Amino acid sequence: MNPILSQVLASARDRHVPVIDDDSREILIRAVEEVKPRRILEIGTAIGYSASLMALNSEATIDTVEMDDTRRQEAISLWKRLGIDDRIHAYLGNADEILESVVEGKEYDFIFIDGPKSKYLSHFLICLPHLSAGGVVFADDVLYFGMVEGEEFIPHKHRTIVTNLRQFLATVQADERLECTIVREGNGVAIIRKK
Ligand SMILES: C[S@@+](CC[C@H](N)C(=O)[O-])C[C@H]1O[C@@H](n2cnc3c(N)ncnc32)[C@H](O)[C@@H]1O
Repeated sequence: MNPILSQVLASARDRHVPVIDDDSREILIRAVEEVKPRRILEIGTAIGYSASLMALNSEATIDTVEMDDTRRQEAISLWKRLGIDDRIHAYLGNADEILESVVEGKEYDFIFIDGPKSKYLSHFLICLPHLSAGGVVFADDVLYFGMVEGEEFIPHKHRTIVTNLRQFLATVQADERLECTIVREGNGVAIIRKK
């Protein structure tokens, strides 16, 4: 991996900043290399690690949304160090409130959903009309520590997330306009292609 990104990953782990795990990272890079997107949308920038991976493995321009400005500023500094800042635009705000205006009038061929797990479905439904035919939505952590497909008791604090992720997966799997593959590695990834 790029040595700057290796440092960023170590620092994220030290500080408990949530970034994509190693299993999902490799799946994400493979998906980006396969789709060869020109325009990417990301929900959940954090400190810019996954956006950097996508930028360095494609020629795409990226729009990314983050509500924590300290993280967003750290991301922008990282992209400058990597020389990819001219291809990434970081929107500041709550995706629930700003996502519609971010995507308005735009089309993306790759959308990485990695914001609040309980909002995957609502964010997906906002994004879907803005996904090109043949484009891919990549959603991370959809199996949520095995709780989404498991039969075990779900602790109260995780119930909304698990219920909403189940609803998200059921919705995309039932939609005949979409092809959904679930990769059961790590916390699970959904790769959803618009036909
Ligand atoms: C899992 S982290 C993203 C990790 C990043 N994609 C990576 O792999 O490097 C999720 C991020 O979403 C942000 N977030 C949570 N709820 C949000 C919301 N409603 N709108 C925008 N950002 C949100 C959090 O602040 C956090 O930085």
